[in-house]
Amino acid sequence: MSLNTLHVNVTPAYPIHIGPGLLRDESLLAPHLTGQVCAIVSNTTVAPLYLDTLRSTLEKLEKRVLPIVIPDGESFKTRSTFDHIHDVLLEARADRKTTLIALGGGVVGDLTGYAAATYLRGISLIQVPTTLLSQVDSSVGGKTGINHPLGKNMIGAFHQPQVVLIDTDTLSTLPSREYLAGLAEVIKYGLIRDIPFLEWIETHLEELLQRHPDELSHAILTSCRNKAEIVAVDPLEKSGVRALLNLGHTFGHAIETGMGYGVWLHGEAVAAGTILAAELSHRLGYLSNHDVDRIVTLFQRCSLPTRAPDLGLERWLSLMMGDKKNESGKLRLVLFEHMGQAKLTELSSQASLSRVLSPQTGRFIDA
Ligand SMILES: NC(=O)c1ccc[n+]([C@@H]2O[C@H](COP(=O)([O-])OP(=O)(O)OC[C@H]3O[C@@H](n4cnc5c(N)ncnc54)[C@H](O)[C@@H]3O)[C@@H](O)[C@H]2O)c1
Ligand SMILES: [Zn+2]
Repeated sequence: MSLNTLHVNVTPAYPIHIGPGLLRDESLLAPHLTGQVCAIVSNTTVAPLYLDTLRSTLEKLEKRVLPIVIPDGESFKTRSTFDHIHDVLLEARADRKTTLIALGGGVVGDLTGYAAATYLRGISLIQVPTTLLSQVDSSVGGKTGINHPLGKNMIGAFHQPQVVLIDTDTLSTLPSREYLAGLAEVIKYGLIRDIPFLEWIETHLEELLQRHPDELSHAILTSCRNKAEIVAVDPLEKSGVRALLNLGHTFGHAIETGMGYGVWLHGEAVAAGTILAAELSHRLGYLSNHDVDRIVTLFQRCSLPTRAPDLGLERWLSLMMGDKKNESGKLRLVLFEHMGQAKLTELSSQASLSRVLSPQTGRFIDA
């Protein structure tokens, strides 16, 4: 197994390096560090595992390392943690040439990215994602942000990293539930735009479930390639292309919010949400019964949920209408155009959606 490198073609373009042992490789970091200070933001779970390794690598480059360790969890993706990062930087008199390095999952990545986007009106950012979800999705593409009490990811900025370093060895310590939730996002790329990849996942799922290094690297590389291609076409989420990444997410966010953050993992909610999107696509004539069953089977093989909790039709609709994709009160959803191709759809009537979400006709977890 070796190092693989992709490029995200935004302005300026930046590399994604994928391989084992990258935390120890100073040659991949050196070209992207301009100043003397590197602040590593991590959390209380990831820092004890990997911060010292990354710190030693930076010290080989004679950098001054400023560790910022925040509490672990989505509930800390808040204004107050964000302020804390700025407090530490200001107290250390970190200047414009400082690089912020996010070492952790998507929570650390989003928070650190937003802190980098805003500190002194923007400083350099390096993403070192350590969950499967952050390696295949959140670390690439420049979306950063924090949660607001009134909504998830409601405050943020686009801020592209200088480089994304994906050390595949870090996945060895990731808890199984987090790993499986990340697989939901891997499968998403196959469903929205890459049917050969979907077929490859179906064939190699056993190896992926056992985290075999070669299959895992291939899955991460192919996911990142898909994400990079989408981001290059639609860097600021303006054309609707990037919205396709949200397959299953409007339903999924409703589950996450409706159940209370943290009860369902994001990837779990996306899996159940994708089944609802598939059901709706079937009712609208875009997917066959066989297609829907195929998706259900794949998620079941990953031990991911394929049935959503029953939130009640009214609550479902109100949660879904709050989604950022909606324009002027009309519900916009990512549905299937056919198997392996997603499309952003504005629903002209809510009749089919109501049937998918109603307790009588919907596929929900038995109460
Ligand atoms: N910016 C984007 O484009 C984008 C895209 C998708 C998701 N997100 C965001 O990402 C977040 C979810 O990210 P996540 O799923 O990585 O969750 P997370 O950051 O909460 O990480 C999950 C758990 O795994 C632990 N962990 C991380 N790496 C580990 C490792 N190598 N070994 C052991 N434990 C480890 C973390 O401490 C945490 O407890 C959400 O806030 C979501 O909004 C952002
Ligand atoms: Zn997601």
